[in-house]
Amino acid sequence: MGSTAALSGPDLGQGVLDAELLEGTPLLGHAHGEAIVLVRDGASVHALGATCSHYGGPLAEGLVAGGTIRCPWHHACFDLSTGIAHGPAISPVACYDVALEGGTLRVGARRERVRPGGLSPASVVIIGGGAAGVACAEALRGEGHKGMITMLTAEGSDPVDRPNLSKDYLAGNAPEEWVFLRTREALAGIEVDVVDDPAAAFDPKERTVTTKGGRELSYDALLLATGAEAIRLPLPGADLPHVHTLRTLADSRAIAAAISADLPVVIIGASFIGLEAAASLRARGAQVTVVGPEPVPLARVLGTEVGAFVRRVHEAKGVVFELGRKPASITADAVILDDGRALPAKVVVMGVGVKPRLELATAAGLTIERGVVVDAQLRACAGVWAAGDIARYPWSGQMVRIEHWQVAVRHGQAAARAMLGGKWRADVPFFWSQHHDVTLGYVGHAEAFDTPEIHGDLEARDAHVVYREGGRIRAVMTIGRDRLALEIEAAMERADDATLERAVH
Ligand SMILES: Cc1cc2nc3c(=O)[nH]c(=O)nc-3n(C[C@H](O)[C@H](O)[C@H](O)COP(=O)(O)OP(=O)(O)OC[C@H]3O[C@@H](n4cnc5c(N)ncnc54)[C@H](O)[C@@H]3O)c2cc1C
Ligand code: FES
Repeated sequence: MGSTAALSGPDLGQGVLDAELLEGTPLLGHAHGEAIVLVRDGASVHALGATCSHYGGPLAEGLVAGGTIRCPWHHACFDLSTGIAHGPAISPVACYDVALEGGTLRVGARRERVRPGGLSPASVVIIGGGAAGVACAEALRGEGHKGMITMLTAEGSDPVDRPNLSKDYLAGNAPEEWVFLRTREALAGIEVDVVDDPAAAFDPKERTVTTKGGRELSYDALLLATGAEAIRLPLPGADLPHVHTLRTLADSRAIAAAISADLPVVIIGASFIGLEAAASLRARGAQVTVVGPEPVPLARVLGTEVGAFVRRVHEAKGVVFELGRKPASITADAVILDDGRALPAKVVVMGVGVKPRLELATAAGLTIERGVVVDAQLRACAGVWAAGDIARYPWSGQMVRIEHWQVAVRHGQAAARAMLGGKWRADVPFFWSQHHDVTLGYVGHAEAFDTPEIHGDLEARDAHVVYREGGRIRAVMTIGRDRLALEIEAAMERADDATLERAVH
């Protein structure tokens, strides 16, 4: 995390030769004491802040495509003309005037953002203060919406940057202030009324929401963004106080507080979250064992070779695996396996998956198919949009429900624009996952795939893996090949199979 774009390159206020700025190749420089990236896109030249507003990634190393510049770290995307953000970034980057004088391009003043203002609907209620909910509120204000926005929350904290809860924050490498996506004060500053009173029901015909605390709110537009909840296996001992799930800041805080060096910890579930937690707790010095029924971790999503590689990465850092085994019960100081062995455990973390929170949508009569079914504009019924982990939406000829941070943020932003009459074309899904010193990036979505094709060297942390279904590329995983991941994403977005094939070979 943190800014990477120290001032370097030419002083763009003094100017650079027009001929030196190549089409689609960002030029890093500075002006007014700010790092700025200059981009030629066809007939236009744009100057934008060079630091990604997500975690500070270097936009000058990103890709220019489709009128946007994309961050190489987690694929945030910024409109070249306006700086408007697409997930995982929520805040825009600054835009600057550019003038061409006598063959020299000069960056001028920072532009004020023009917000049209007065756009309908008059009153928006957002149920859920997570990725999608917060992104929706910010995007509504960013697009000039002036009506009331009420956000009902149920988490007991300010909205959090959830991916951090199993990574830097849990490892003790990030201070608590980094973990908040937006504080309540920041949301109040853009006139979003955050109410710690969970929604109990909504009525799509009357356009009202009732809360557990007895409030009744009316809305013109409603965003349902209730996310998912962590599954707790129904084992004897699963409710003991040292057994945790990991979804909220309170969960992550409680786990971190219980950890000390050499403490025996068992992670149940060799999932992405289970393994990220294993890495973070190893970083705190705990003795970590991961238990899972599968023979190879992550094989269902990444294939057996990549899964085996991820296992080796963890083992090299001292994580122990008990695979092909299920937990039978939990005691105060052990997890008992189904073969009768007792694994010492003073802390147990269950990372066994999540289930979408669908109760409100079901009770309101929305169409449910293992998720809230929405159309291409994320609309579930008149006046109601659904976004993030709960939404089953059309993408690339299929209905998908995807539990990624980037998808949830983009859904929130897309729902906001749809409420204001805009149109959205579903983005290519992307997620990242951190395992000690290895970051995996995954572009696309493959629910099933043939034998994965590995290009490069996993051990050298320089590889990409292609997942095809019936010959068609559905997804690509990259390690250390951020630029390639962006090129693949852009080709998938354009449905440009020829470029996609060339990129992966
Ligand atoms: C520890 C962890 C690490 C992760 N790491 C990654 C990662 O590295 N990369 C990645 O792509 N994805 C990651 N994810 C997944 C990602 O966080 C989710 O996909 C994303 O948060 C979904 O956003 P959402 O807005 O749909 O739901 P959430 O962020 O879960 O927000 C939903 C909110 O709705 C609230 N709510 C529920 N019911 C009500 C109600 N009745 N009234 C009011 N509010 C309600 C909840 O309390 C919650 O605050 C991670 C998830 C976890 C738990
Ligand atoms: S730092 Fe740019 S997308 Fe995360």
